[in-house]
Amino acid sequence: MRYVTGLQCHLCKAKFPAQALWVCDKCLGPLEVTYDYDAVKRDMTREKIESRPRNLWRYRELLPIEGEPRTGLYSGYTPLVKADRLAKKIGVRELYLKDDSVNHPTFSYKDRVVSVAATRAVELGFEVFGCASTGNLANSVSAHAARLGLQCYVFIPNDLEPSKILGSGIYAPQVVAIKGNYDDVNRLCTQIAEKYGWGFANINLRSYYAEGAKTYGFEIAEQLGWTFPRHVVSPVAGGTLLPRIARAFRELKEVGLVSGDLPTIHAAQAAGCAPVINALHAGLEFPDPVKPNTIARSIAIGNPADGFQVLHAVRSSGGSGAMATDSEILDAVQLIAETEGIFTEPAGGTTMACAMKLIEDGSIPRDESIVICITGNGYKTAEVMNSRVKAPAQLGRGLSEFDNFMEGSAHFAATKN
Ligand SMILES: Cc1ncc(COP(=O)(O)O)c(C=O)c1O
Ligand SMILES: [Zn+2]
Repeated sequence: MRYVTGLQCHLCKAKFPAQALWVCDKCLGPLEVTYDYDAVKRDMTREKIESRPRNLWRYRELLPIEGEPRTGLYSGYTPLVKADRLAKKIGVRELYLKDDSVNHPTFSYKDRVVSVAATRAVELGFEVFGCASTGNLANSVSAHAARLGLQCYVFIPNDLEPSKILGSGIYAPQVVAIKGNYDDVNRLCTQIAEKYGWGFANINLRSYYAEGAKTYGFEIAEQLGWTFPRHVVSPVAGGTLLPRIARAFRELKEVGLVSGDLPTIHAAQAAGCAPVINALHAGLEFPDPVKPNTIARSIAIGNPADGFQVLHAVRSSGGSGAMATDSEILDAVQLIAETEGIFTEPAGGTTMACAMKLIEDGSIPRDESIVICITGNGYKTAEVMNSRVKAPAQLGRGLSEFDNFMEGSAHFAATKN
């Protein structure tokens, strides 16, 4: 690998080769990929990146693969939507939605991490590819495995939304639903990875998987004309995304692609599963595990694998955290849909609702630029909005019926607020 120098323990800094290793055998700390930034700096220019296809591999010097990308050729480079109507509604000056609800091919940010993990899985010789998942990751692993012709096993808690289950099954992996929550599933998969020698995207391939999440941060800066926003609000479940957005910004600075102050990064969780926010508020270094109970199932992880990194990334950037109730989450899903025409799932609603709280309490000043991470698609979890969406008006075929309906209804004025 031209730019990768190996793996390094995040805690004790011990070094390891770039193999399927994910935990330090000396201190049990997580392993991270290291790069030769001087070499990257020489070879990776803005012009070179901009001349490449609009997918996540345009930042390939900072991604941990040896050969050519095997999958994800249409993943990433999702829209950074300037959300002016939403900004006005909540009283801020400059607001963006980084919209991975339309990521290819499975409509969540997970297509980034899986593209990298799957490519690396093939390079490392794994024939079976799998994951422990709250739904979106299983969808993505199943789709990318199908395209690569890999055998696939995805493990999920048995209470997921029906569309999330079907959204894996359609690609014909073996879906295994476990009686238990995500943290139980994860524990089981750790044993299976070891015993069966399979490649699990978010377990023994985690060091590579996590690198894929950096592309979300690279794109934000590129799409802002190679500048940093002032604030980013990210959801937290296992804790992959948030610290890798921070790492992406640091790396862009390190290799000279972007200058200026690093953004402040804020964490968002559902009140029914907020181990990281609790730890932030209590001043803990590691989150205390919780038992999840929230409508935001995709982010219902009570014992986040990368909780320590999230806390470190938030604190060192001067950021803060907030949690939102299920009802606030659904309100925020609706607000984004009504103002910007984007339908996100409860994870996106959580991020939005928490951002609004941080703006209200002054943690995010109203006149500074803000990016909100929209990481999943609302059509996968549409049923959670059933109680909030008005039923269609039922009319006959004649125009007069419609005329009567218009006379008797204030609905049009109500939608044009
Ligand atoms: C839609 C969505 N957003 C955000 C996350 C957060 O993931 P993590 O903190 O593990 O990166 C997940 C994953 O589990 C997800 O499915
Ligand atoms: Zn270590």
